[in-house]
Amino acid sequence: MATETLSRERVLEIIEECGGDKEHLLSILIEIQRECRRNYINEASAKVVAEKLDIPLVQLYDILTFYAMLETKPRGRYIIEVCNNAPCYISKSHVMAKFLRKELGINFGETTPDGMFSLQYMPCVGACNIGPVIKIGDKVYGNLNEDRIRKILKELRENAQ
Ligand code: FES
Repeated sequence: MATETLSRERVLEIIEECGGDKEHLLSILIEIQRECRRNYINEASAKVVAEKLDIPLVQLYDILTFYAMLETKPRGRYIIEVCNNAPCYISKSHVMAKFLRKELGINFGETTPDGMFSLQYMPCVGACNIGPVIKIGDKVYGNLNEDRIRKILKELRENAQ
């Protein structure tokens, strides 16, 4: 279950669950981020990983900032990723992107003030036949229109209660 910050014990458990060594560092970091409600790796968690795997903290931060999928600052509980590749564009993904910006009151790369949603672009996820497509967590939503997006946002807000 996602929590705002992970305890030291939980970070240590994740390290073990993901293989327990440096070779599995990326999986460990992704899992820590996934469990954090705000979709990022905070300094306390990074320190536990660095200490446990005997990696200098500076080197760990090099890795955290190298990979676009890893984040060191809080993001939205739900990250809405909009596919911006050509097939989705032809299916009007840019219109859906504009609608999402308006509905959420944020631009791409930003997070709503309540910490609920972040908006970002993503590359093709292979669901071009149901474009325009967005992805939230592991779930892909296709055949989008404004009504469907409103419903998705409403459901997510309700789930977060
Ligand atoms: S182009 Fe959007 S899912 Fe393939």
